[in-house]
Amino acid sequence: MPVVLVTGASQGSGQATALLFAQKGYDVVLAARQPDRLQAVADEVRLLGQQAVAVPTDVGQQPQVAQLIQQALDQFETIDVLVNNAGICLTGTMEQTSLKDWQQIMDTNFWGYVYTIQSLLPHFLAQGSGTIVNVGSFGGKMPLPNMTAYCASKYAVTGLTETLRLELKPKGIHVAAVHPGIINSSFMERALFRGEDDQELQTRQNQMQEALKGAWVSQPEDIAKAVWEAVNAGRSEIVVGAASVATEAYRLLPGVMQWMMGQAVS
Ligand SMILES: NC(=O)c1ccc[n+]([C@@H]2O[C@H](COP(=O)([O-])OP(=O)(O)OC[C@H]3O[C@@H](n4cnc5c(N)ncnc54)[C@H](OP(=O)(O)O)[C@@H]3O)[C@@H](O)[C@H]2O)c1
Repeated sequence: MPVVLVTGASQGSGQATALLFAQKGYDVVLAARQPDRLQAVADEVRLLGQQAVAVPTDVGQQPQVAQLIQQALDQFETIDVLVNNAGICLTGTMEQTSLKDWQQIMDTNFWGYVYTIQSLLPHFLAQGSGTIVNVGSFGGKMPLPNMTAYCASKYAVTGLTETLRLELKPKGIHVAAVHPGIINSSFMERALFRGEDDQELQTRQNQMQEALKGAWVSQPEDIAKAVWEAVNAGRSEIVVGAASVATEAYRLLPGVMQWMMGQAVS
């Protein structure tokens, strides 16, 4: 049986991805911090007839990630697909974002991806195959107002993914990016909200809630399908749903888009 390792598998897109791969015949290694939720997803995978191992892991902690990869290889002897998906959101301006906030965002959204890749790569190189899918964001393709730390972490993921693809292609390893737009998950309500006062915090939370009501919002299952397509069809990059229109507009007309977004927040 092929094996997939999914980070951030306890809920949202990571959970949907784990279940879709189980339906496609993969055994699954699940990683996230909340053990109970992770175990519940592992049970769902087993109900689909596949093996599952839940390894509670904080991806921002390198020793825990090294232990995750070791445990996965001990159990299954091989890993075929790595899905880096664990992520957190922060909304607030630069001056409202502390260095500790920056550290937390980068530890999870960027270093978490580097740690899994660094630990797993010797195995992929030895077997001469493997797929890495990094779940980024439309915020890793275009700027989003008041989300400097988040976008910086996701642009870093874009750079990591596109450069690593060049490096690993000749070695038989496929590296892909899946960039979601807004997803109907609890990601945004779990965001770190930063603002001057309670009123500004409330405004930011309301804006997030409003954004989730839009018709362009994707479901976690849409992200799972895109990850599957990246693996199964060897796609290099998928921008999910309506976010592809915005990122394409930004690629073609960055100045105009910057101006429009500036108007929206001024
Ligand atoms: N939701 C959106 O609108 C949106 C838009 C663009 C891109 N994305 C990206 O899509 C991915 C998935 O988001 P989602 O919407 O599915 O969010 P979600 O429902 O909040 O799920 C995030 C997952 O990441 C895990 N996680 C967070 N911090 C972690 C850490 N330090 N170590 C290990 N696991 C950690 C969470 O589990 P625990 O809490 O149990 O650790 C959870 O399983 C993220 O990379 C996100 O940046 C989301």
